[in-house]
Amino acid sequence: MKALVLSGGSGTRLRPFSHSMPKQLIPVANKPVLEHVLANIRDLGVTDVGVIVGDRAADVSRALGDGTRSGVRITYLRQESPLGLAHCVRLAREFLGDDDFVMYLGDNMLPAGIGQVAAEFTEHRPAAHVVVHKVADPSAFGVVELDSAGRVEHLVEKPRNPRSDLALIGVYFFTPAIHEAVAAIAPSSRGELEITDAVQWLVDQGAPVRATQYSGYWKDVGRVEDVLECNRVLLEGVESRVSGEVDDASVIKGPVVIEEGARVVRSLVEGPTIIGPRSVVEDSTVGPYTTLGAGCVVRGTRLDASIALDGAVITGVRRLSGSLVGREARVALGAQGPAEHRLVVGDHCRIEVTG
Ligand code: DAU
Repeated sequence: MKALVLSGGSGTRLRPFSHSMPKQLIPVANKPVLEHVLANIRDLGVTDVGVIVGDRAADVSRALGDGTRSGVRITYLRQESPLGLAHCVRLAREFLGDDDFVMYLGDNMLPAGIGQVAAEFTEHRPAAHVVVHKVADPSAFGVVELDSAGRVEHLVEKPRNPRSDLALIGVYFFTPAIHEAVAAIAPSSRGELEITDAVQWLVDQGAPVRATQYSGYWKDVGRVEDVLECNRVLLEGVESRVSGEVDDASVIKGPVVIEEGARVVRSLVEGPTIIGPRSVVEDSTVGPYTTLGAGCVVRGTRLDASIALDGAVITGVRRLSGSLVGREARVALGAQGPAEHRLVVGDHCRIEVTG
């Protein structure tokens, strides 16, 4: 079996972060989403991985390299514009050959893995095997209707009036039968070749299409809120490890990772929390549910339920919570004191002040 990971597209919902990095590289528990994806694929024993990349091809290949670090072998496949998920399958025709494959959307997080779905696919080997999850607002997703025997009857992409509450998770298993389907369909009204239409084509041809209802945690990290929530869930599983320095005046409470070269001085770090390599925490309270990337500085600040990306500097802030601070960004108490705010705000940023 091979794998096809989709990491093209534009990621407008994750602005302003997606202006400077593809959303699939946003770190969750200090590891890019794509690394979590590759780990789940490698856990199936699948090592031959095609990665679809768009405009941000260089960022993705810099982060993942040839895949050796993740235990897989990556072939990059360039998609000139995001013409749809089924377009990605067309593009990967030669790479996929006549192998079965798992197609995995590069912004989907399933921390419990996909081993059980893979086993079900291998046992029955239907033309397509999709994964679904009950959600409150299915209209934001592909939606699946099952018949009374649990067979897939109908699939539709982001319907205005969903006829079921089963959303499509971004993990699909296919036999080579999918290639005829993606060749047969035409672009949808939004101009994309939809994978839902290709799978529907298989259903209409009478091909077997199965679904597994996934019970574990699943998140499509399309928005900042999703990234923060997912980070929180992953941190729940963190185990304490202190490779950096903690001075005698500091207290570490609960599961905390302090990476190599990091320093904690006169501070309280409350787990679950990860302090990234070479980060400095001074006269601060950090955590719970917080990750600092590499080379961050947090000074005289209380920070919780947040993510600071590499090189972020946060100083003198009374309390920062539920925040995502970008690479090399600076958040500081100004010289004019707490009664006045001064901001340099980039495109599509979001700032909440106290008054
Ligand atoms: O997350 C699950 C949902 O993912 C499913 O319920 C939907 O049926 C499915 O269409 C998809 O919806 P999204 O709106 O979340 O798709 P998005 O445009 O975010 O693309 C998903 C991934 O595929 C993302 O990593 C970007 C990549 N992609 C997307 C397109 C359209 C490509 O590589 N090429 C493309 O042409």
